[in-house]
Amino acid sequence: MVNVQVTVLSGAGISAESGVPTFRDVETGLWAKVDPYEISSSDGWQRHPEKVWAWYLWRHYMMKAVQPNDGHRAIAAWEDHAEVHVVTQNVDDLHERGGSSRVYHLHGSLFEFRCDRCDLPYDGPLPAMPEPVEVVEPPTCVCGGLIRPNVVWFGEGLPADAWDRSVDAVRNADVAIVVGTSAVVYPAAGLPELALSSGIPVIEINPEETALSASATLSLRAKAASTLPTLLQRLPALLG
Ligand code: APR
Repeated sequence: MVNVQVTVLSGAGISAESGVPTFRDVETGLWAKVDPYEISSSDGWQRHPEKVWAWYLWRHYMMKAVQPNDGHRAIAAWEDHAEVHVVTQNVDDLHERGGSSRVYHLHGSLFEFRCDRCDLPYDGPLPAMPEPVEVVEPPTCVCGGLIRPNVVWFGEGLPADAWDRSVDAVRNADVAIVVGTSAVVYPAAGLPELALSSGIPVIEINPEETALSASATLSLRAKAASTLPTLLQRLPALLG
């Protein structure tokens, strides 16, 4: 499929089979145990940075302990047959570790940190965390600000560069594969709609029905790791 562009829009579900809890799956979702607004908003950070920092630091270390799955690896392998762009809402690095070379993080990364006052990137030492704890004091910047994770919190804007590259990747796609997202958080959830309104076929892979399922060109009730490895070869037949 030379000269074909495949744009992947991924969410937490693609990392679920690596053992990473999703956000909204009730019994296992990350939110099930914490108040999402308290722990993932700039208000929450202002009120108790030590709680927010502890939660992100735990996820940072947890992410180091898990591995990419067959879904991440399949998307990377597609690069041998097509031009592949990955737009992800995930803050993990599993697409990169699975071998993908074009990954745009709409919601930031657990592996980047910056000062909450002067925005200076921070790559200094991180406190050890042998097991999850409720509070950890964040490091301080030379300017006196606090070091925060470089992730997008509720109410914050998306990184402009990642957003612009993602919109281009959707506009120039021959097909968009939406995998492992509940498709409810905007503006990311608007990208499949942009593809559809541009006449670009959208294939959804999700074991559950989502807000996108009814409008997707094709919605497969399936899991990422078992479906993605054979999906690319099946595209011509699936799209007719
Ligand atoms: N394969 C494919 N999809 C899966 C799998 C799997 N093995 N397991 C679960 N899913 C699906 C679930 O059915 C659900 O629709 O993954 C989706 C995960 O949805 P969410 O938990 O809402 O995660 P996501 O869509 O990535 O959330 C978007 O919300 O909280 C914010 O910033 C956070 O980036 C996150 C954004």
